[in-house]
Amino acid sequence: MLRLTSRFCEFLPRRMVLVRRLSSSFDGSSSKEHNGRLEGKIALITGGASGLGKATARQFIWEGATVVLADINSKLGSEAADELGSQAEFIECDVTMEEQVSDVVDFAMDRYGRLDILHNSAGIAGPPAAPDIASLDLGHFDQVMAVNVRGTLAGIKHAARVMGPMGSGSILCIASISGLLGGLGPHPYSISKFTIPGIVRSVASELCSQGIRVNCISPFVIGTPLVVEQFSQLYRGAGRERVLEIISGLGELKGANCEEIDVAKAAVYLASDDAKYVSGHNLVVDGGFTGSKRLNLPMLDQMGLV
Ligand SMILES: NC(=O)c1ccc[n+]([C@@H]2O[C@H](COP(=O)([O-])OP(=O)(O)OC[C@H]3O[C@@H](n4cnc5c(N)ncnc54)[C@H](O)[C@@H]3O)[C@@H](O)[C@H]2O)c1
Repeated sequence: MLRLTSRFCEFLPRRMVLVRRLSSSFDGSSSKEHNGRLEGKIALITGGASGLGKATARQFIWEGATVVLADINSKLGSEAADELGSQAEFIECDVTMEEQVSDVVDFAMDRYGRLDILHNSAGIAGPPAAPDIASLDLGHFDQVMAVNVRGTLAGIKHAARVMGPMGSGSILCIASISGLLGGLGPHPYSISKFTIPGIVRSVASELCSQGIRVNCISPFVIGTPLVVEQFSQLYRGAGRERVLEIISGLGELKGANCEEIDVAKAAVYLASDDAKYVSGHNLVVDGGFTGSKRLNLPMLDQMGLV
């Protein structure tokens, strides 16, 4: 199998579309527009073409990192790399194919000589309708698990392979509030997201001895393409703006909505030296939504007490 070295870039396999903006510097040191919390770091972001992955790429770059976006959607990925500028490049990668995940990790190593951060943001929701468990299509379940769980695990495996010898690294995964409470998403999605903090703990327990931190983020509902698509199927006929309105009204925290930037900033924290002693953690970004539940107390008037 062809290994990707910068020398061999012109021979990239057909499926591996590489978009690179020509720049005098790929080491993250030339940008004047960043705060420097990830200065000089090399990050690989799966699912980086869209939504939370793309927003995180933007924030990583702002903080001084150079970012490789890896995504199955080559059109969106190329556009994202163009939009993000000289410290971003795109490689097509399907995270369900381990060899492709291995290739992008090797690509980052060959080009930059190191990989400091892996952010596993590739994910799918699966079919939007939440059928009862008795009519669950196990084929759908397998598809969701293949991307959300197996894809995440493949990323961790190959990042650990190269970070281990470096003796450092930060691996991030995306779980969800659907992995904290039952009933918030379809079973396959929910089950896949319950699995992520388990993977993080299991792997962190091993990788701490190699200086590699592993953490995940559990975001609230945010109007990314994945979520807008799901809600649009639930609210057929409602326009995108109406769907976004519905989504932004779902939270508990008064005066704020959960936005892509909130997850991106959480990722910067976990990826940076600010979190140098944080590993095996699930950082919940939900405005308190999963922190409480109310008892179904009957009202006084229902009880005839007023
Ligand atoms: N948006 C939310 O409200 C929310 C909340 C909690 C968790 N999440 C999780 O955040 C992650 C990112 O989702 P998003 O909301 O940004 O959605 P999104 O659809 O905007 O982005 C997901 C990206 O993953 C890519 N992808 C899908 N399958 C892939 C594969 N096999 N290989 C490589 N890339 C693949 C897509 O092309 C897309 O670019 C997902 O894991 C999702 O479950 C999202």
